[in-house]
Amino acid sequence: MNQRVLVASNRGPVSYQFGADGSLTGSRGGGGMIAGVTDGLAALDPGTDVTWICAALSDADRAVARSQEADPSDEGLRAGIPVRMLDIAPATFDRAYNNVANSALWFLLHQLFDTPNQPRFGREFRRDWESYLAYNEAFADALTQEALSGDAGLRVLIQDYHLCLVPRLLRNRLGHRLGEDARDAGIGHFCHTPWAPPDYYRMLPDEVGWALLDGILGADRAGFHAERWATAFMDCCAAVLGAQVSRVGLGGPGPGPVGRVTYRGHVTEVAVNPLGVDAPALRERARAGDVQANVDALRRAAGDRKLIVRVDRTELSKNIVRGLAAYRELLVTRPQWRGRVVHLAFAYPSRSALAEYRAYTDQVRQLAGQITEEFRTADWDPLLLEVRDDYPRSLAACALADVLLVNPIRDGMNLVAQEGPVLSERGCALVLSREAGAAATLAADALLVNPYDVTETAEALHQALAMPDAERQRRGAALAATAAADPPARWLGGQLASLGSLPGAGWPARSGQWPSWPASAVSSATTPSGPATTRSAAAATCGDSALALATAQPGTPSARSARTAAKAGRSPRSSPQNKTERAARSPASPVSALPLSTPGGRSSITRRPGSAARPSRVASSPSGARSRSSAACGSAVPRVCTATACALSSTQVPSGAPAAASTPGSAARASATAAGARVVVSSPSCHRCQP
Ligand code: F6P
Repeated sequence: MNQRVLVASNRGPVSYQFGADGSLTGSRGGGGMIAGVTDGLAALDPGTDVTWICAALSDADRAVARSQEADPSDEGLRAGIPVRMLDIAPATFDRAYNNVANSALWFLLHQLFDTPNQPRFGREFRRDWESYLAYNEAFADALTQEALSGDAGLRVLIQDYHLCLVPRLLRNRLGHRLGEDARDAGIGHFCHTPWAPPDYYRMLPDEVGWALLDGILGADRAGFHAERWATAFMDCCAAVLGAQVSRVGLGGPGPGPVGRVTYRGHVTEVAVNPLGVDAPALRERARAGDVQANVDALRRAAGDRKLIVRVDRTELSKNIVRGLAAYRELLVTRPQWRGRVVHLAFAYPSRSALAEYRAYTDQVRQLAGQITEEFRTADWDPLLLEVRDDYPRSLAACALADVLLVNPIRDGMNLVAQEGPVLSERGCALVLSREAGAAATLAADALLVNPYDVTETAEALHQALAMPDAERQRRGAALAATAAADPPARWLGGQLASLGSLPGAGWPARSGQWPSWPASAVSSATTPSGPATTRSAAAATCGDSALALATAQPGTPSARSARTAAKAGRSPRSSPQNKTERAARSPASPVSALPLSTPGGRSSITRRPGSAARPSRVASSPSGARSRSSAACGSAVPRVCTATACALSSTQVPSGAPAAASTPGSAARASATAAGARVVVSSPSCHRCQP
């Protein structure tokens, strides 16, 4: 049987732009995740049936998503990925992506909050969270539709913090849809960012923190780039959810499983898969004319001076300002380098919709300007700051680097730290933050620094510049070999292989039942703070309750809508399930054939390699904007399960009181926690609890 692979990510492998004449051109999406997944998919057996589901990010993407016109182009490209872009309502997308994923989750997972002032989780955030849920549901709907349209053994690879809720939503949808129809299927979630330890993670509103973990635990496998992040995730599962966690030491940088989390009767393997680079392909790309022209130009600009190079998005976690401060301190404290070194700093635009990013970009420019003012001489420019995304030029800079500076405050992996040594002509010294996931694999041959310590970073830059040639070459070669050891093909192939071998992969519905969670297990999930118990109890009975806990508040439109629906004894309008059923009945939606692998775009360094492709056919999504409240169904009791189409309800009863079902028309199942703290009821009319 052929394998079927579905990928889901916010940013897709292609993005579109309008030309001056209104025509559309496509280019490869940027970032480490895109590079890893795209190149990993390229290495799969050609018979593998792949579809990549992503969000339309711009008006041009939306136009393509809506267009049914086929124009698959592959100008010299060696394969194609069918891509399906989801045309999610702009306001929903904006709140989910900018306000929740980028402003809350990114800051949380990288521990970037300026805590005296941020975060503030008020009513606006609750509204944004509703959008995050709707956006995750749109992905779950699309994945469900795709999953039901094929017979091959199914693997679903869900990417990143944007889509934390999708594994649980998908598991519920497919479990209910498939019934006894056993399938060879597995869901994986991979987080490309760090994960935060429980003390920091607990900054999230309880119900949100719980829903995110519960969402990922809907997967059979949760992957991370480094053991640190996997461990932090398991710590949160234990501390926040009260989940049962068993750990196995990795004893090295990975890949491999590091533990299992048992929660709601399902086992999720937690694993480490470090992502390296496809070294031969990267070197081949660097031999191309556009890169070599930049090599010549940069050589002329630098003369015979040493080069310190950095290549980053202008991203708060990348720590560019402290990097510049360290360079300044180097020039102050080690004046022997003045006139003998040039710092090439590539700081490409990123997330300019967010005020923090715009302010940070200003800081970068300002400090760069000050350094230039302070040290420039008639024949020496100490710093060249490049803010225009230029892929061939970044590759050229890496090829020429004597020193590569990678000093993030925190980073899931960091591919530039690996690409630089692979590209370097003379072997470069790597000054690397110990807070980057890549430090787990590269520590032995890099100069590790505390990213907050500007003086230490300046000193490491000095050591790197002063390093004898032979040592720099030896270290550089070792770094390059390590980077090449986990290429995308192995990274992605390893995930697919272990997903297939997991006993937990496959739907609970195979047995016709959701696994029940015994009362003793519920009480064993109790934490001193309480919520884990009540939520575990609720979660044990009904699929999507986690999400509802996070969204349904008394008096909100969704709660009102739910009660109205419950009184009327009907399922809510436009429920995701209804949509899914409609979608499943309709013919498989068309997808576009995307250039899978371009000679011009194999690297995380790239943001926009400029290898334009004509627009190809992309399906309009059945999962566009919709109101979250319309997805609600009957809960007569506020607080639990109104907004996510699940009729689970819950109410507080005195300890020891008998369980009672009070929701209209919902006496089907009731269970109480061992402590008698909460009654959980599900309605026979609920399409999640009672498919
Ligand atoms: O680090 C995780 C990641 O998904 C990267 O792959 C990517 O570079 C970034 O986060 C997302 O960036 P953006 O918000 O520009 O899509």
